[in-house]
Amino acid sequence: MELLDGRALANELTHAQQTAVKTLKVQGVTPKLVVIMVGDDPASAIYTQSKQKRATKIGMASELKRLSAETTEAELLALVKTLNDDRTVDGILVQLPLPKQINEDHVIQAIDAKKDVDGFSPVNIGQLWLNQPGLVACTPNGIMRLLAAHKIDVAGKNVVIVGRSNIVGRPLAALMLNANATVTIAHSRTANLKDLTKTADILVAAIGKPHFFGIDAVKEGAVVIDVGINRLEDGSVTGDVDFEALQTHVSAMTPVPRGVGPMTITMLMEQTIEIAKERVKRG
Ligand code: GUN
Repeated sequence: MELLDGRALANELTHAQQTAVKTLKVQGVTPKLVVIMVGDDPASAIYTQSKQKRATKIGMASELKRLSAETTEAELLALVKTLNDDRTVDGILVQLPLPKQINEDHVIQAIDAKKDVDGFSPVNIGQLWLNQPGLVACTPNGIMRLLAAHKIDVAGKNVVIVGRSNIVGRPLAALMLNANATVTIAHSRTANLKDLTKTADILVAAIGKPHFFGIDAVKEGAVVIDVGINRLEDGSVTGDVDFEALQTHVSAMTPVPRGVGPMTITMLMEQTIEIAKERVKRG
């Protein structure tokens, strides 16, 4: 089995990004990412800190704006507008979930589509489904890059994605379709789920259930991408796939951790750098 090592690829890309940032700085532009976190969700705190840390590591400017859990929608929208208008800000990311009093759709729609490094805004989602250039959600983007790095061609393949979220399943389906795969999106209401996943040449598991997919759910020789991050009672993290059982059954597979996860932040940095390159061109 070929291990699809996301950490190794992420490290490689991070070095290239450090060089790209140096070049941009010589040209007078320091790429800048602003991450907004509202409230104090512990998982969000960890994610936003990792994004900050990575940005700093590659030499980018980055700012974490932590707002109180009582922040109103109007206050958050006003902050987004200020950042939209700030020429020195390349990427804006609002960490989800947001507190109940704030409508996530309103906030995502307010972010300038050209600074929407998460690729969540309706304009970018529309461009993605039209197979036009735009900013793309980071986890799906990272999965495509990991497959490409391992020379796994998705064209003509039967791809089954289990999970229909706006963050992973839906944008990944569009990317796969754009790359000429035959795509099925399955989810919690899919009938006979494991019969379906067993037909997949490439299975993407984003269901949020530890070790859900074993030999009974996966075709021999398939490629398996595990997007699950499940914390077990002993504190360890595991995927949606039974890695142990599948090791001798599949042709390639991502581990958890060190698979898809490290690629997500790497794609976030890459898109921020790409936006900064546009700023150089505009002068
Ligand atoms: N919450 C969980 N994943 C994500 C993500 O990729 N982006 C944002 N903004 N929030 C998230």
